[in-house]
Amino acid sequence: MLYIGVDLGTSAVKLLLMSKDGKIQKIVSKEYPISFPNPGWSEQKPEDWWEKTVEGIKELTAECDKSQVAGISFGGQMHGLVILDSQDQVIRPAILWNDGRTGKETNYLNEVIGKEKLSEYTANIAFAGFTAPKILWVKENEPENFARISKIMLPKDYLAYKLSGVHCSDYSDASGMLLMDVKNKCWSGEMLNICGIREEQMPRLYESYETVGTLKREVAEELGLPENCKIAAGAGDNAAAAVGTGTVGDGMCNISLGTSGTIFISSKEFGVDKYNALHAFAHADGHYHLMGCMLSAASCNKWWMDEIIGTADYAGEQGKIGNLGENHVYFLPYLMGERSPHNNPDARGTFIGLTMDSTREDMTQAVLEGVAFAIRDSFEVAKSLGIKIERTKICGGGAKSPLWKKMIANILNIKVDVIASEEGPAMGGAMLAAVANGEYASVEEAAEAIVKVVDTVEPEPALAVKYDERYKKFAKIYPAVKNLFSEIL
Ligand code: XUL
Repeated sequence: MLYIGVDLGTSAVKLLLMSKDGKIQKIVSKEYPISFPNPGWSEQKPEDWWEKTVEGIKELTAECDKSQVAGISFGGQMHGLVILDSQDQVIRPAILWNDGRTGKETNYLNEVIGKEKLSEYTANIAFAGFTAPKILWVKENEPENFARISKIMLPKDYLAYKLSGVHCSDYSDASGMLLMDVKNKCWSGEMLNICGIREEQMPRLYESYETVGTLKREVAEELGLPENCKIAAGAGDNAAAAVGTGTVGDGMCNISLGTSGTIFISSKEFGVDKYNALHAFAHADGHYHLMGCMLSAASCNKWWMDEIIGTADYAGEQGKIGNLGENHVYFLPYLMGERSPHNNPDARGTFIGLTMDSTREDMTQAVLEGVAFAIRDSFEVAKSLGIKIERTKICGGGAKSPLWKKMIANILNIKVDVIASEEGPAMGGAMLAAVANGEYASVEEAAEAIVKVVDTVEPEPALAVKYDERYKKFAKIYPAVKNLFSEIL
């Protein structure tokens, strides 16, 4: 049997065809535009996601025996608000996870409703990218759109809906809406009330590895796939990536260097970060996780390479970098504001420490290091909660860079295990589809059978000490400039 994993990302949808034993048969990627209608805003058209997914599935399955495709599932960019009217038409472009327009609504939730209440209802506090503040924003700024809402869903749920006709979501992705009681895995009546919405507008909730339905007849015909091909609920992209890297069960860690950067710690028990700096979400394996999310990770390097220094030769630029642990240039990677741990949509990217002898290489290095230092910020929060992490998996586009992996290993001073493929969310999606179809008894069993570590990057003691000193300096920069950001907007 064959399984399709759909990674609905921010720049592209990546589709992966996997045989039941976990072998990757083919990968296809289709890009779509993102629009930034105002500074700090970020939107995409759900119709583009669907069009490119259909194109991608056709290309992915062009040479295989289509009758063997038994399941499809997803890893999707989280938190995005998708709203449909009673005719199932998309009401407005989706407001994405890295959109910072909801400063006012986020403050209202955190300060007027209060962080304690939010944490009691959902296990989390409000962050600008979460879905609930976006609903409040639409209610306040686009009342005519708010009045037309018949269905609310997350990005990947739109694909599941178009494929199967079932209005569904899964616990891992729904955790990031700030509308779900994460511990008890149900919608929070209090939060729905606060946002002025009703439960019938919300999707039905499933475990990520549960089947929600099968392909609609007309969709099966268009794709040339069997009508009984099962659609499994899927997961938020970070939970799906964790499945794809075998970060399941208790105490495992995964770092994702994609458009966003995340550190994901799996846990069999439900637990809340008492500072609420890390998100306390459900996991796609049926359990829970804590996660720190920075809004710009590999995207900082892409911005620096493509837009600023104007080169496509990422490896060539990185090859010139030599003075690890000695760079006196620092970069705050807050190009879209920052989520974890600062929760500040007004934060901005910043170079600091430049001198007349600073070079292009120093600045490239500062960008890569700035992302790794910012991941350490969330890692420090996890340590302060008593969580011990000695090693991590790594995935995402940035994981292709040997230099970046070395920086992560030394800046966090932990071992970095490299998996055969860095296709975390797409792989995880395909694995969830295989579990839904009964190929494996559980997500943990699938991960055990499929995921193989092919290399480990070890920290080097002398370099880790140098980087520890650098990190302490980095950690002083944000508090020093923080108050300036809202003034210079
Ligand atoms: C996680 C988050 C991002 C997006 C990226 O909380 O906002 O990682 O899911 O796709």
